[in-house]
Amino acid sequence: MTKKNIVLLKDVSFRYLNKYILKDVNFSLSENDFCIIKGKSGEGKTTVLNLITGILKPQKGKITVFGKNIVKMKNSDISKIRNKKIGVVFQNYLLENEFSVLENILLPITINRIPKEKDIDLVKNLLNDIELSSKIDEKVKNLSGGQIQRVALARAFANNPDLVIMDEPTSNLDNKTSEKIVKLIFSMYKKYNKTFLIVSHENYFDELNPKTYLIGNKNISKLK
Ligand SMILES: Nc1ncnc2c1ncn2[C@@H]1O[C@H](COP(=O)(O)OP(=O)(O)OP(=O)(O)O)[C@@H](O)[C@H]1O
Ligand SMILES: [Mg+2]
Repeated sequence: MTKKNIVLLKDVSFRYLNKYILKDVNFSLSENDFCIIKGKSGEGKTTVLNLITGILKPQKGKITVFGKNIVKMKNSDISKIRNKKIGVVFQNYLLENEFSVLENILLPITINRIPKEKDIDLVKNLLNDIELSSKIDEKVKNLSGGQIQRVALARAFANNPDLVIMDEPTSNLDNKTSEKIVKLIFSMYKKYNKTFLIVSHENYFDELNPKTYLIGNKNISKLK
């Protein structure tokens, strides 16, 4: 049986002012993929993620997410898809330092409605997964880099998304912590059965044998 398509980029070009960042890019992601896009700093990794989540619009080409062309879609409709179906770990985390771990993980829910008991239970399960149950009421500003990264990971799961996107989940961490985070990410992939798209300039994910792409020279090509 062929797997459902989750993301499709067809001949996508994107430029800032007159400089092309991406030119005629084709890329696709299927249900349950564990996919890594590798590439050096400044090659356009974050830009690709911003195009897929509809934060940026391409000048040319088609971007289909969950079967819908988001290029011509109103921002309010794109936000609905994002809030319901996509969990994102941003490159700079975008956590609220003065909020507690619990409040941060609940944020994707709180922007839509008041959290229910079952939402809190879900967060407790996620905190158990990331081994941070003891920090549930701690303010994020009092956590270590690796702990903050784990909270960002848990938050990406809070709205039970179909697609989890991560921008450099191991940057800013030491080797040992990075290896731990990679293991944790893969165990969450196995446990929750979602589609994962991760961009990274590092090699930590190689041993998991992911579907791997390379971004460079304004294009995305398949490595394996
Ligand atoms: N707001 C902007 N205005 C102009 N140029 C930008 C803007 N944002 C990004 N760029 C340029 O677009 C290119 C791609 O940036 P992007 O952030 O996607 O790279 P990246 O691969 O994520 O890099 P890193 O690994 O350092 O995070 C860079 O050359 C950058 O200078
Ligand atoms: Mg980036």
